[in-house]
Amino acid sequence: MTKKELISIALEASKNAYAPYSNYRVGCALLFQNGEIVTGCNVENASYGLTMCAERTALFNAVSQGYDLAAAKMLAIAADASTLVSPCGACRQVFVELLAMDLPVIMGNSEKYIETTVGKLMPLSFTGENL
Ligand code: THU
Repeated sequence: MTKKELISIALEASKNAYAPYSNYRVGCALLFQNGEIVTGCNVENASYGLTMCAERTALFNAVSQGYDLAAAKMLAIAADASTLVSPCGACRQVFVELLAMDLPVIMGNSEKYIETTVGKLMPLSFTGENL
């Protein structure tokens, strides 16, 4: 599975987005070592703050289906937009909670992508180690 292929799967997931307010459709695809993939899309609400981002939808989907997130291999986030989608602060905090710091995170659209890691997205993060 290439990065571009995982982005395509995230883009496909973005088609399920419920985004009547922003019309900004985001998809996320989490690839596991064994090749399995769990996806998510953003789900908005008229009470805007209740909106769930694609990234958290995908991660919570994986947890609730019993996946071991320690076996995650790569995360792709994509939107059919000219600029690359970048995860919000809340999603970054959830990444730190559930994913390895060195997990590759790909942010892309149909034409290009950039690659980073969970740790680079969320330096000096607050974790369970602090408690
Ligand atoms: N959104 C995501 O789902 N993921 C991101 O990384 C950025 C923002 C969603 C939330 C909301 O439904 C819409 O995009 C506009 O903010």
